Amino acid sequence: MTTPAPVTPGSDQAAYWNEEGGRRWVDNIERVERMLQPLADRLITLAAPKKGETVLDVGCGGGLTSAAAAGAVGPTGRVTGCDVSAVILDVARARFKPTGNLSFALGDAAAMPLSGYDLVVSRFGVMFFPDPVAAFRNLRSALKPGGRLAFICWRSLDENPWMADCVRAAFTVLPRPEPTPPGAPGPFAFADAQRLRGILADAGFGAIEIVSHDETLELGTMDDALEQMTRMGPPAAGFAAASAADRDAVLAALRATLEPRLVDGRVHMPSGTWLVTARPA
Ligand SMILES: C[S@@+](CC[C@H](N)C(=O)[O-])C[C@H]1O[C@@H](n2cnc3c(N)ncnc32)[C@H](O)[C@@H]1O
Repeated sequence: MTTPAPVTPGSDQAAYWNEEGGRRWVDNIERVERMLQPLADRLITLAAPKKGETVLDVGCGGGLTSAAAAGAVGPTGRVTGCDVSAVILDVARARFKPTGNLSFALGDAAAMPLSGYDLVVSRFGVMFFPDPVAAFRNLRSALKPGGRLAFICWRSLDENPWMADCVRAAFTVLPRPEPTPPGAPGPFAFADAQRLRGILADAGFGAIEIVSHDETLELGTMDDALEQMTRMGPPAAGFAAASAADRDAVLAALRATLEPRLVDGRVHMPSGTWLVTARPA
């Protein structure tokens, strides 16, 4: 098993996740992890790491799924959480002390030499590759013969009202940014399952299964949800630059959108993901 090499300096994704994107993720880490916890559980069930296995967690972020996998593989196994962002990895290391079977490594999963893993997993860490076929080819080369890939990624924005409804509300006030072309690197890059299947096949994967999964996510209290939806995602940059009056108007629009979703003082919103598994062909 080889561990990730340092990330190529100057790549766009490295810059984004080490700067604005990374800062936003780190500043909101507790809130986001709480919201995404059910999907960490879902990933571990899907991937089913076994005692003694070697696991690569791609785009491991704050390290929660790496730590969960380390628990599953036990002391005879080994998990590497890899991420392109130094600022995010610092948080992962602080939250989950690297132990005998868990380590974190800075690296670009699309490009670094990798080999000897039984299992490659990811929760929302594989949708940002500028060249997804080349990146998944690299992840395929990380796997031992008979190894497996298991990840979870978002379906379309429209199938994710937790984000779509809030974006729609915020952009009744804020200037709407240019839409990104379908399939561009970003959270919804793999919305189209046909395209995703083609990418994985072209990268040398077979036994590809892409299963639709719906899950209600809990965004915390109304204040938690308002903070998250104005500090992360598409409205964040516009909100930060907006006048005080426009910020108040955005918050009012978001509150009106989220109010009907309150259950016992917590905001609950639907989400839509793909549960993806494959093996080297
Ligand atoms: C949406 S976050 C998800 C983080 C974590 N997996 C989770 O579920 O909380 C995406 C993560 O992927 C990382 N990432 C993006 N492109 C990457 C690449 N090419 N190689 C490694 N990590 C990458 C980012 O730095 C970020 O931490």
